[in-house]
Amino acid sequence: MKPKIGIIYSTVDGQTLKICNKIREVLQQNDQDVDLISIDDFNEDITKYDKLVIGASIRYGVHNDKVIEFIKTNKTQLDSIKTAFFSVNLVARKPEKSSPETNPYVVKFFKTIDWKPTVVKVFAGKLDYKKYSFFDRKMIQLIMWMTKGPTNTDAEIEYTNWEKVNEFAISLIAL
Ligand SMILES: Cc1cc2nc3c(=O)[nH]c(=O)nc-3n(C[C@H](O)[C@H](O)[C@H](O)COP(=O)(O)O)c2cc1C
Repeated sequence: MKPKIGIIYSTVDGQTLKICNKIREVLQQNDQDVDLISIDDFNEDITKYDKLVIGASIRYGVHNDKVIEFIKTNKTQLDSIKTAFFSVNLVARKPEKSSPETNPYVVKFFKTIDWKPTVVKVFAGKLDYKKYSFFDRKMIQLIMWMTKGPTNTDAEIEYTNWEKVNEFAISLIAL
């Protein structure tokens, strides 16, 4: 029987989901059996999967609480299969902050949670000012100003490196 791969995601504006869709597409093109499920709807027994991927975006410095709860609740099952975790954020647009060892959110995340996935990745997300509320727009402008990114509120920039996503998806086959 083919190994079963589960992909669980937490997204707000859709970029993490877009990355997950790409991963699923690459895996399916390679004849893999894949389920893609939002963390909000996930009710399966984790051990029905041979491999589980969790993808989550950063908002104001942290991943969604639901992701943290999910990992804590299911730690034993997660430790019994192959797992991958990836984080999506804008700081990762800078090459020197785009690895699990150098991305501040990912470094902090694994300091605060008792879980060691088989693989960890970081992908740069999307900046899209017009999608944000007034407050969020001002905050992101401030963050961008501090990190020397675009502050023009017309900016819509997808920083995601799709080749890196593709490589990650392929690497899951051999996991
Ligand atoms: C309200 C808000 C807060 C954010 N906070 C951060 C942050 O603290 N650090 C960062 O690198 N990116 C931050 N981002 C950027 C998101 O991580 C990025 O846009 C990502 O692509 C969002 O993925 P999603 O659409 O799957 O939620 C923030 C975005 C928004 C809208």
